[in-house]
Amino acid sequence: MRSKIVAGNWKMNKNAEETEALLSELAAKLPDTNAEVMVAPTFVNLAGAVRSLESSVVKVIAQNMHFAENGAYTGEISADMLLNIGVDTVILGHSERRAYFNETDEILAKKVAAALDKNMRVMFCFGEELEDRKSENHFNVVESQLKNALFSLDASSWSKIILAYEPVWAIGTGETASPEQAQEMHAFIRKTITEAYDTSVANDVSILYGGSVKPANAKEIFGKPDVDGGLIGGASLKADDFVAIIEAI
Ligand code: G3P
Repeated sequence: MRSKIVAGNWKMNKNAEETEALLSELAAKLPDTNAEVMVAPTFVNLAGAVRSLESSVVKVIAQNMHFAENGAYTGEISADMLLNIGVDTVILGHSERRAYFNETDEILAKKVAAALDKNMRVMFCFGEELEDRKSENHFNVVESQLKNALFSLDASSWSKIILAYEPVWAIGTGETASPEQAQEMHAFIRKTITEAYDTSVANDVSILYGGSVKPANAKEIFGKPDVDGGLIGGASLKADDFVAIIEAI
């Protein structure tokens, strides 16, 4: 079911005390909203975050996971380990995982399949580099990222998929995509899914925008018909900014 979602990707920020402080400030200031609100602290703080938010509607999600059930994968985390602490939603395919940790579409397809096998929800990230857009290849890049990682799924699996379009050139740069650019790509994504599946799959999937979303630009971006919310980085690390973005949806 297509829902409005505002999610905060904290990346590698906030120790245990800072996590607790931010979550209690967020819980105290959380506005009434029909949107799903999610936060993704670092692995070491996930269990504590789940405990801190057990009486809040804010959902704790993970920033990544491995595709293996368990085993000799030093430093990795499995789906079962996340489920065991009450985390049933995971971000996969973030551009930083692709760039710094060599996560290919093929690896991501295995991670998506592993998460869905455990009935987890997947927030799948994808988006073009600046040179792709400059060479007007951005639609091809986005289409192949989706096809390679997701289009082998059966239609029923899509109820567990959340899409997060994050143009790499907008992440952490302050260079936000314009609302028109976001809408154009989101509409293209929905059309691509319609062609691969059907209109009900395409219309039911939430497509979030990520890349320098701030309180000042959130309302206009979220107001576009095919934008169903945002995946927020830097602005999610300050309660007031994150609350202002939630209020914009
Ligand atoms: O995953 C969200 C993130 O990549 C966006 O970062 O700091 O541009 O909001 P930021």
